[in-house]
Amino acid sequence: MNTFYITTPIYYVTAKPHLGTLYTTVLADVLNRWEKLQGKETFFLTGTDEHGQKIAAAAQKAGKTPKEFTDSFISAYKETWKQFEIDYSHFIRTTDEYHVKAVQQWLQQLIDKGDVYKSSYNGWYCTPCETFLSDKEAQGAPTDTNQSGPACPSCNRSTHYIEEECYFFKLSAYQNKLLDFYKNNPEFILPKERMNEVISFVESGLKDLCISRTTVKWGIPFPGDAKHVTYVWADALNNYITAIGYLQEDKKDQFAKWWPANVQVMGKDIVRFHAVYWPAFLMASDLSMPKHLLVHGWIKVGDQKMSKSLGNVMDPEFLYKEYGPDAVRYFLTTQMAVTQDSPFSIEDLEQRITSDLANEIGNLLNRMTMLAQLNNVKTIVPPAKWSHAALELQQANKTMLADVAMYLQEYSLHMAYAEVKRFVARTNAYFHAQEPWKLAKSDNEAFMQVLAATCHALRTIGTIYWPVMPSKMETLLDAIDSQFELNGDVIKGLENWDKTFELKQVPVLFTKIESTKVSEEKIIEKKEEVVSSDTIDIKDFIKVQLVVGTIESVEPVEGSDKLLKMLVNCGDKGIRQIFAGIKKFYQPEDLVNKQGVFVVNLKPRKMMGMESQGMMLCADDGNGNLSYITPHKPMVNGSILK
Ligand code: MSP
Repeated sequence: MNTFYITTPIYYVTAKPHLGTLYTTVLADVLNRWEKLQGKETFFLTGTDEHGQKIAAAAQKAGKTPKEFTDSFISAYKETWKQFEIDYSHFIRTTDEYHVKAVQQWLQQLIDKGDVYKSSYNGWYCTPCETFLSDKEAQGAPTDTNQSGPACPSCNRSTHYIEEECYFFKLSAYQNKLLDFYKNNPEFILPKERMNEVISFVESGLKDLCISRTTVKWGIPFPGDAKHVTYVWADALNNYITAIGYLQEDKKDQFAKWWPANVQVMGKDIVRFHAVYWPAFLMASDLSMPKHLLVHGWIKVGDQKMSKSLGNVMDPEFLYKEYGPDAVRYFLTTQMAVTQDSPFSIEDLEQRITSDLANEIGNLLNRMTMLAQLNNVKTIVPPAKWSHAALELQQANKTMLADVAMYLQEYSLHMAYAEVKRFVARTNAYFHAQEPWKLAKSDNEAFMQVLAATCHALRTIGTIYWPVMPSKMETLLDAIDSQFELNGDVIKGLENWDKTFELKQVPVLFTKIESTKVSEEKIIEKKEEVVSSDTIDIKDFIKVQLVVGTIESVEPVEGSDKLLKMLVNCGDKGIRQIFAGIKKFYQPEDLVNKQGVFVVNLKPRKMMGMESQGMMLCADDGNGNLSYITPHKPMVNGSILK
């Protein structure tokens, strides 16, 4: 019982990680570290999902083999996780040989058991989500199967029709077992509200699941039939067990030690796979169910999901360089309610750094150490008897620890850390109310007691925030010479206020951000590669209104190394203020009086606090070189592109 196994989804490697994938991974890392603090032996799994149509198509577009293509992103993933101090135990790649072999054996077991049969599939498929639409979801689909199909309910992109021979897993046979399981385990999915969607999906009737593909070549060869490769989700979900030794002779003990997982973390987009297909696969293999699925909402930009395909993803590397890992981890863990979709904005991040981190935590440490230094105090011993005010602070310390444990038990991270934040404020209030700068002159014993109580409170704060901000909190604990060892239940020990502290000089923990460092412009616009099998309908194309416009004036945007602000005459679409990230490539005078092509029906977007009322079309060579697009001969402003 003293073990804890936690997983993240394995990410598709079509690009570097983005803030959304970082979010899931940080949540898992925080929970893993929290369990370590309580003396648990933990295993934290993350990795990459590398097979399937989506990856094959993206690789083809990049002119690489699928394996070369996925290999090229692995170091970016590992580097990002390192930057953000993601302390995983193992990084699985679904191209790892042990995984491939174990998946094949797993399939063979299902075949032997009679849970798999060969037939043919026809229906609508979403390549970006690698998912088959259910009959209900496919309602209203066009009769002409050459057309694009209904929008995918998960990502809203159009689907395409596939018709091929495949092997089916008898998912329908597990419908009632799944419903019983949900009924008996109401906390299987957390937050609990998400369970209802799953139950109604299963109750609406489960069809057998296609678990092989013949039109896709990039995948795990299906046992006994060279024409087929394993459907990517049947391959990928198994990572959670193959990584810890499933079906590997020499790893039986390891598998028995870690399975079932305590918690599997994921975004709400992939609940169906984890709450329906995954338990059914486990049931078919006579394996126990994971104890909980922790399902979080999406990071949004404005009212849209942050996603590669929408071109609004934020690059973790940029955030790392600008703000450091701890502040970003703090923001993701404490400001996003796991239960909901939450916006992410640079402005909010900077505000939290200034108010919560610099003004509250940093300042508390600073005030205490400065005052001690001023009075030549280095060593602080616990008093013989605590004052009433200090005892009250101790009580608040104890209550906070119990509340945090209660909230984290149900993985309610933002609620848990809101309690810690209150305790930091409470400690600041205590310090202020005691007026230790006066006591230093009048009552040395009382003065030393305030320092001792503050050090104990700081020890709690540093330790309890360690899962969220590991390196900054290690510095804080170092300042009072109170590094913890991950040995036994560290949290329990925080209730004992009997420590002696040695004060040490440490670098400033957090600095206030006086004026905004960067702007939303840094939200990197990166359109997801349109995979070659995805075609769009002419209807989709004409939704985008493209017109010719003449650039009337251009000025560089102050504080931005990328942006130019232009006034563009778009004829009957008016004179538009449009921002373009092309400062590196053009001087303003290169552009004035030139004609370009502009999207005029995009939602206006704020950039550097000003509204951009359109978008200039540029060609991008993939190495960050941009060239604006201009008509071959002068055109009347407002001319439509079609
Ligand atoms: N490969 C599958 C998962 C297989 S697990 C057996 C997959 N990969 S993914 O790269 O698309 O990653 C999806 C996960 O990334 C989401 O479930 C979520 O955890 C995370 N996020 C991606 N975008 C996100 C947001 N905008 N906001 C929050 N999380 C996001 O699906």
